[in-house]
Amino acid sequence: MTTADPVRVIADLFAAEGAREYLGEPVTQAEHMLQAAALAEAAGAGQELTAAALLHDLGHFTGPVSGHELMEGRDNRHGEAGAAWLARWFGPGVTEPVRLHVAAKRYLCAVEPGYLAALSPASAYTLRIQGGPMSRAETAVFEGNPWCTAALRVRRWDDAAKDPAATVPAFGYYRPLLRQLALQRARELARGAGPGGRPPEPPAHPPARRGHASGAPRLAGE
Ligand SMILES: [Fe+2]
Repeated sequence: MTTADPVRVIADLFAAEGAREYLGEPVTQAEHMLQAAALAEAAGAGQELTAAALLHDLGHFTGPVSGHELMEGRDNRHGEAGAAWLARWFGPGVTEPVRLHVAAKRYLCAVEPGYLAALSPASAYTLRIQGGPMSRAETAVFEGNPWCTAALRVRRWDDAAKDPAATVPAFGYYRPLLRQLALQRARELARGAGPGGRPPEPPAHPPARRGHASGAPRLAGE
């Protein structure tokens, strides 16, 4: 926990870097994350998962390697970077889906026929940089992660949140939510809560189709 006001710091990121960066998509990063949050809320996601959708790509701006460098071919590990940055204020219900949302893409490319082909060109491009579809062993490890389902839900909203015509609530709509979650986390830490947090929310969607997609194409250069 830090004394900096998370809502102000995050709002500034949305208004500055987030409003400028497109990273290969037809919407800005701020628009993209706001759309993901709106999709999460529309799907009935809980507060932490909605916040995870809202904040899932902040690692493009907060990590040591930028989103620009990712688009130039260098993996910026923005899931991990974003999760580490957000952990100063938020618990694992927010940070773990953020951390795993790239792994979720790699997982779905491996197990769900047609998923890779439906990715946006930018997302398909970064997939190669991020390690390509998971191996069979990697999918087994991912499925054993208690945050697997939450990460997959964020991933679905992530993939759908690239509509240049969408009208969604602005960042200010989520200020009370973020403030409440940060306060809740501060109280948990004050009580001596460990890093594990509560179990993830139950899934609202069926799990991804099991079994490796034998026809899932492997991208060149992996
Ligand atoms: Fe995203």
